[in-house]
Amino acid sequence: MKVLVTGGAGYIGSHTCVELLNEGYEVVVVDNLCNSNPESLKRVQELTGKTLKFYEGDVRDEALLKKIFAENAVSCVIHFAGLKAVGESVAMPWEYYDNNLNSTLVLTKVMKEVGMKNLIFSSSATVYTADNEMPLQETSRTGYCTNPYGWTKYMTEQILSGMSHADKEWSIVLLRYFNPIGAHHSGRIGEDPRGIPNNLMPYITQVAVGRREQLNVFGDDYDTPDGTGVRDYIHVVDLARGHVAAVKYATENAGCEVFNLGTGTGYSVLDMVHTFIDVNRVPVPYQIVERRPGDIGTCYADPAKSAEKLHWKAEKTLADMCRDSWNWQSKNPMGYGE
Ligand code: NAD
Ligand code: WQD
Repeated sequence: MKVLVTGGAGYIGSHTCVELLNEGYEVVVVDNLCNSNPESLKRVQELTGKTLKFYEGDVRDEALLKKIFAENAVSCVIHFAGLKAVGESVAMPWEYYDNNLNSTLVLTKVMKEVGMKNLIFSSSATVYTADNEMPLQETSRTGYCTNPYGWTKYMTEQILSGMSHADKEWSIVLLRYFNPIGAHHSGRIGEDPRGIPNNLMPYITQVAVGRREQLNVFGDDYDTPDGTGVRDYIHVVDLARGHVAAVKYATENAGCEVFNLGTGTGYSVLDMVHTFIDVNRVPVPYQIVERRPGDIGTCYADPAKSAEKLHWKAEKTLADMCRDSWNWQSKNPMGYGE
């Protein structure tokens, strides 16, 4: 079975390509490389000993998508392509709405035309409102997003569920990721953010490798056990395997279903820092600073629906996540840029 992976050269996409190829799927990738390096796809093929087909281009390019579907008998699409930096989305809202909404609209237009209607979409825990009880269930409240990035995920969920409501041939899986970290255990592929990392784990690994002086811990006065923010960190390989489960689900079930991809366990910023130091035996200097605007204290998933219907659950531990993040960063201090 052939799967089209948009954004397949990126962090989560490249790990998902590995898992798909290892499970015997054929993989076609389309990526414009606006936030990735084609070296990731070279390494995906090295790791699996299998080849994939790569189209360099934009998902908003309708002619390119038509060509891809004409040249490949695709049975399911996993749609990762999009812009993902929260702060940048506040500074460049038009670019975020254009990329994230139009990529989905063009993709689904062409899918309708060719009559292939199995789609997995990368949504985010950011669609949940800040006032929910924990753990977050798929039925928890959504909306009231605090930035354009979050709105693009919320709006795309609305667009896709509306399409599925109107046309019962669609089979759509909306995956709400919690906080993906870690890397393939080989250390050959991993997260390679451009510029100063926004997210916690890439910041920690860049401090550990000497690219940044120290970590700023954003606030220690939250209502959490140690006062620092609590999140549901999930190993990217577990997350990638969740996509393989979702492909199986989408090709066997019609409709539009939403699933949390998280572990169900929250860890604080200081848990992360101390586990990273203990597991890897490297120093990570840090200081406590002001809260980051827009952050919430605690966020973690109820992954029960994914376990029941996708037959998937996260298996890797926090120590695995910290070890694999460091293995990637220490072997590739400048990411793919070296
Ligand atoms: P990433 O930036 O590493 O990967 C996205 C890929 O899409 C990149 O390779 C980029 O070059 C490509 N791309 C962007 N716009 C494109 C376009 N118009 N046409 C073709 N290619 C395009 O990001 P990631 O962390 O792998 O995230 C993948 C998806 O998961 C994104 O949709 C993101 O919003 C979502 N997500 C990520 C996280 C996270 O913390 N990493 C959490 C929740 C959801
Ligand atoms: C985690 C914790 C910070 C950096 C974001 C997006 C979300 C999703 C995942 C895509 C928080 C603290 C962080 C640092 C710190 N992405 N922190 N110092 O904010 O949960 O989620 O990425 O969909 O949409 O909002 O992740 O990794 O930025 O922060 O203390 O330098 O680490 O305050 O408590 P977040 P994060």
